[in-house]
Amino acid sequence: MNVHRPLSREDLPPTESLRRLGREILFFSEIDSTNAFLLRQAGVWPDGTLAFAELQTLGRGRLGRRWLAPRGSSVLCSALLIEDVDVEWLTLLPMLAGLAAAEAVEQATGLAAGVRWPNDIVLAGRKLGGVLIESVALGSAARRAIVIGVGLNVLQQAGHFAPEIVSHATSLEIASPSPVDRPAIARALVERLDAWLSSAAAPDAAQIRRAWLARSQDLGTRSRLVHDGRVFAGTIVDLDEHGDLVVQLDQGGMRCFRGAVTAREW
Ligand code: BTN
Repeated sequence: MNVHRPLSREDLPPTESLRRLGREILFFSEIDSTNAFLLRQAGVWPDGTLAFAELQTLGRGRLGRRWLAPRGSSVLCSALLIEDVDVEWLTLLPMLAGLAAAEAVEQATGLAAGVRWPNDIVLAGRKLGGVLIESVALGSAARRAIVIGVGLNVLQQAGHFAPEIVSHATSLEIASPSPVDRPAIARALVERLDAWLSSAAAPDAAQIRRAWLARSQDLGTRSRLVHDGRVFAGTIVDLDEHGDLVVQLDQGGMRCFRGAVTAREW
């Protein structure tokens, strides 16, 4: 793997070009998890704080899984949002962040990245990255800290992936015919996330849904989903306005699945 220099402030968009993100930007050579850090310190840092790491020793994935990435191989980024407790659009954040990440990949590399419900960024049918949204109540006030975590595989070779994911994981280094510029991916990610988060007081659910569906390769495909210990097989027919997946079940009937509590077989 061709490990590049650590990411730094100069790699990212100038603060004055950003509307919500980047009031504070933290760079860690090593940390347990950028998500865990911002959740722990949510009362300390302002809305829009960004945290990047070269290495996470306890990187977290969805549904309690680990997120592993060799030092310097990836863009590992978390963004802190401070919001009122009742944010109706919270369930849309995995879509919003996945879209931003896919757009960033396309902007920086020209590769047509897609999204896969609920939180995957995909390239040529393989997982290029993922999104993890976590949140915590802030003190006694009716405020909530929300952390958007994004991991993008940039410089890994196939041998860097664990045996259980190697058949469906990819990186930009593997997929791209041209040299890959990790700082350019980080820069584009911050730009696209900031653009989606700043488009209005609350992100526009209809616009997110439209843009997400346009990048999704899910519609019409067969899927097996695990929910409440039961396996459901069926055909994906839609994404609803809350970001839930709508599936025509083989056993008959239509059912919606919520991303936060549903596992999906690859
Ligand atoms: C998934 O696909 O399961 C989600 C992976 C999210 C990984 C990112 S890397 C930056 C941030 N910090 C973490 O510990 N996890 C997220």
